[in-house]
Amino acid sequence: MQLLRNKVVAEGIVLSNKVLKVDSFLNHQMDPVLMKEVGKEFTSRFKDEAITRVLTIESSGIAPGIMTALELNVPLIFARKQKSLTLKHDIYVEKVYSFTKQETNEITVAKKFIDPNDRVLIIDDFLANGEAAFGLARIVEQAGAKVVGIGIVIEKSFQPGRQLLLDAGYRVESLVRVAALENETVTFVEEEDINEA
Ligand code: G4P
Repeated sequence: MQLLRNKVVAEGIVLSNKVLKVDSFLNHQMDPVLMKEVGKEFTSRFKDEAITRVLTIESSGIAPGIMTALELNVPLIFARKQKSLTLKHDIYVEKVYSFTKQETNEITVAKKFIDPNDRVLIIDDFLANGEAAFGLARIVEQAGAKVVGIGIVIEKSFQPGRQLLLDAGYRVESLVRVAALENETVTFVEEEDINEA
């Protein structure tokens, strides 16, 4: 997605050879016009999948998730990382390990929000090791519902998440694929050029 790639080039800050900071449009301040386009792009890529719900994880997945859900005209659910005061029973729980933060979070979703007939699109802001996406997929599968695909705003293709998800049989659509973060420069996966509209 060229618009997103331009934004990464203009505003992304390479913090190390593993971490890209994009807090001016995705992870802190959010760009609603760009997020609207992100929602349209995911919708066009998954338009034939008869999606009934979008699932993401708080907090940075919510903006791309809600714009996609709006475009698809279906509800958005976000998995919680903190235990809710009102959500104690009838919840799906999965453990998600963050390599970045070196900690395990329990993520939860209320059972009433996923039905066995659901066809769920998972959306997240970053894909690194795939832990968050796998945790969300396990929740959908606990509910007996179908994961129709995983939509990622920024994929770090030099980390193993994409391949692990593909190997597990999931369809992965990433709007921007980062090949490397070296010498303070973002390099993109070249096949994107070919797929670009
Ligand atoms: P994984 O889910 O693919 O295994 O990723 P990992 O555990 O490594 O990521 C943990 C958190 O760090 C996630 O956000 C993820 O989106 C974010 N993250 C991973 N790599 C990068 C990166 O290069 N740049 C930025 N900006 N974020 C990255 P989170 O802790 O859930 O944060 P938030 O959604 O509450 O903002």
